[in-house]
Amino acid sequence: MAHHNMFLWIVSVLLLQNSVLAEDGEIRSSCRTAPTDLVFILDGSYSVGPENFEIVKKWLVNITKNFDIGPKFIQVGVVQYSDYPVLEIPLGSHNSGENLMAAMDSIHYLGGNTRTGKAIQFALDYLFAKSSRFLTKIAVVLTDGKSQDEVKDAAEAARDSKITLFAIGVGSETEDAELRAIANKPSSTYVFYVEDYIAISKIREVMKQKLCEESVCPTRIPVAARDEKGFDILLGLGVKKKVKKRIPLSPTKIKGYEVTSKVDLSEFTSNVFPEGLPPSYVFVSTQRFKVKKMWDLWRILTIDGRPQIAVTLNGVDKTLLFTTTSIINGSQVVTFADSQVKTLFDEGWHQIRLLVTEQDVTLYIDDQQIENKPLHPVLGIFISGQTQIGKYSGKEETVQFDVQKLRIYCDPEQNNRETACEIPGFVSRMDYFPPSVASVLSEQ
Ligand SMILES: *[C@@H]1O[C@H](CO)[C@@H](O)[C@H](O)[C@H]1NC(C)=O
Ligand SMILES: *[C@@H]1O[C@H](CO)[C@@H](O)[C@H](O)[C@H]1NC(C)=O
Repeated sequence: MAHHNMFLWIVSVLLLQNSVLAEDGEIRSSCRTAPTDLVFILDGSYSVGPENFEIVKKWLVNITKNFDIGPKFIQVGVVQYSDYPVLEIPLGSHNSGENLMAAMDSIHYLGGNTRTGKAIQFALDYLFAKSSRFLTKIAVVLTDGKSQDEVKDAAEAARDSKITLFAIGVGSETEDAELRAIANKPSSTYVFYVEDYIAISKIREVMKQKLCEESVCPTRIPVAARDEKGFDILLGLGVKKKVKKRIPLSPTKIKGYEVTSKVDLSEFTSNVFPEGLPPSYVFVSTQRFKVKKMWDLWRILTIDGRPQIAVTLNGVDKTLLFTTTSIINGSQVVTFADSQVKTLFDEGWHQIRLLVTEQDVTLYIDDQQIENKPLHPVLGIFISGQTQIGKYSGKEETVQFDVQKLRIYCDPEQNNRETACEIPGFVSRMDYFPPSVASVLSEQ
């Protein structure tokens, strides 16, 4: 009974906050809900000063607003440190965002020296070690000066415990090498610099995206020299087992899959996108087709078969449609109807790339920017339905087409790195690859 009441209570709180629920109580999965233990390790040394410390607290509250707080979702802990670390907020001590944010607001500034290493070790021993949840663990270290103790061992001990460390350096007194030693690799992803505390609000959105990538996109796709966080949807849908016939994208050595109408490329969304998608991502696919009807290259359906997210090719009027969720009425569709979209329908190989952000979606075809369209803010997705590729719109029937690649990259920056080198005859700024990279590409 108590359990039942608790459930109803959670349901009503969630409904009030974000209307994240469907009628049957299923939760929309997104970064708001992805189970995560998140600990902020805040510099409270003399150099910060009480005014800046107030700014840091507001920043913390602003970031926390992006998350649903609770034992099933995200729990936030806070350590303030100077000579000694102080446990300001234990992980999981607040079961509502309001209480947690009030607790953040009432943290008192310490003042003292900067012993960052000790603070990281403290977070490991007294916050993370006390959490029994098996999930994503992240620590964000915020500092404005060089540490008076060694950070390297504590940071490595944290990484050994599967904790991902971000380091934020504020002002000119921080030491680059130290921030890099604290943070995970690559430093370009895990180290941030801001000129002063006023500027810290500028990295709020990027922090939000990065924190989300950690919890929502744990898988990595090998791309050239680096592993990118994301989802290889073709692999996720078992294309290697389901499609036997391979076709070369001659004259390249790259091979594609020949999808026939007998194949069913479907999988439960909970197996492909267990925590939904991040706020920004890049969709990339390379395909060729002759279909002259309306079909979904990729779609994520609700349990009753409605598209929540879809990339649709309209063979009738030669346009491309992008469907996603919306806070307005649940669903929004944008249509790309630029004349260059027609090239997709010429039966040759083409790469489609969609850069989706919180504000807009931009279409690229064969590495050329085509059109940008605004988006309303989106909601999370229900993961109880299916994720499918190559299906006629509104039907279960598979489209006959050839596909070489179909991926989601979680880091929007990948949009600037990805080229259409697999397209026959494609010439780009990255036209030549070192042999090792070329062989990786040809294996796909
Ligand atoms: C917090 O959010 C408010 C409202 O969006 C904004 O005005 C303020 O600058 C933010 N502060 C920080 C420190 O991020
Ligand atoms: C939401 O509104 C748009 C127009 O703004 C409409 O095209 C669409 O069908 C609506 N979706 C739902 C699910 O009602």
